[in-house]
Amino acid sequence: MTVCEFRPGLEGIPAAQSSISHVDGQKGILEYRGIRIEELAEKSTFLETAYLLIWGELPTKEELEAFEHEVRFHRRIKYRIRDMMKCFPESGHPMDALQASAAALGLFYSLRDLHNPAYIRDSVVRLIATIPTMVAAFQLMRKGNDPVKPRDDLDYSANFLYMLNEKEPDPLAAKIFDICLILHVEHTMNASTFSARVTASTLTDPYAVVASAVGTLGGPLHGGANEEVIQMLEEIGSVENVRPYVDNCLERKAKIMGFGHRVYKVKDPRATILQTLAEQLFEKFGYDKYYEIALEMERVVEEKLGSKGIYPNVDFYSGLVYRKMGIPTDLFTPVFAIARVAGWLAHWKEQLAENRIFRPTQIYDGRHEAPYIPIEQR
Ligand code: CMC
Repeated sequence: MTVCEFRPGLEGIPAAQSSISHVDGQKGILEYRGIRIEELAEKSTFLETAYLLIWGELPTKEELEAFEHEVRFHRRIKYRIRDMMKCFPESGHPMDALQASAAALGLFYSLRDLHNPAYIRDSVVRLIATIPTMVAAFQLMRKGNDPVKPRDDLDYSANFLYMLNEKEPDPLAAKIFDICLILHVEHTMNASTFSARVTASTLTDPYAVVASAVGTLGGPLHGGANEEVIQMLEEIGSVENVRPYVDNCLERKAKIMGFGHRVYKVKDPRATILQTLAEQLFEKFGYDKYYEIALEMERVVEEKLGSKGIYPNVDFYSGLVYRKMGIPTDLFTPVFAIARVAGWLAHWKEQLAENRIFRPTQIYDGRHEAPYIPIEQR
């Protein structure tokens, strides 16, 4: 039965009923469980926001402390996972390493008890706690170093930066990194979240859910765009080259990375906050010449494509923030995944609460009654 016309990319077609987050693409508003992103970025922490998304309400002081405590003490990864990661090729993309490692967790925790709230909580804690450790471990191992053990005295974001850079991070950098995680944690029915929900709907384990979402996030039209933005800014190289670069993209009908969004027709509110965060970092740690180029890009793209509703998205300024923190370019998308795992898990839990397996239809436009031609006659 075909109930509606075919819409490429399922544009405008609801895939779920959800109370986790909301976007108003015309006004540039993003809310998590009804709370504006600007307010959470200013007042909350990543773990508190993750709790809000997954369990639906802001935690009490005791609830938050208990959650933080559990996450803190589940950060270590098994030696066998670490040894497995050591065998990965150093030249491989860290998103592939992360996807394989997240899936491997399912081998160690293979019991599936999807109706048990304790199982849900344990899985949530384990995934949120270990994903940053896996990202940092792969980064150190591909450089030939041993991974650094998590430090229980550091909070979530400071510990990640410590594991990555092998030194205690600057407090401003750690605070800004935590805000970046808040900004990336959830964003309605995007491609990776859809992927997570489809996988969840088969009642498989949460590690498979997260692994499938990580695979989806990696593409350049989704989370992978942040990496491509920096490559693009480097390629442009100077403010004078911006206009010819944009003109050339438009001539070739090529997409300009970090611009445009299926839902936002104004500047993404997360891009506005990220731009402010980048400026705070530049003030403390020195200017980045690519920021000038980025500002000129925003001006030129707005002039040329503003009428089509093409403005900077979340990926446009995030790379400049991460660069200033010394995070390598190909870790930008894994960092996005560190945040987004909590959003995927909120959707996993919501999907399980009223599950029906995803099984859409298609419009078949192939042949019928085709003959089988023997191989020697083809
Ligand atoms: N540069 C130039 N033109 C663009 C861009 C862009 N970045 N984005 C959209 N357009 C134009 C597109 O050419 C089309 O024009 P026309 O109607 O004349 O053919 C129109 O805008 C609609 O584009 P679309 O490709 O149909 O839009 P979509 O909703 O399918 O795609 C998108 C959304 C995000 C994939 C797209 O804007 C894009 O490829 N952007 C660049 C990659 C990027 O920055 N991705 C990150 C997305 S936000 C974070 C995330 O999801 O992870």
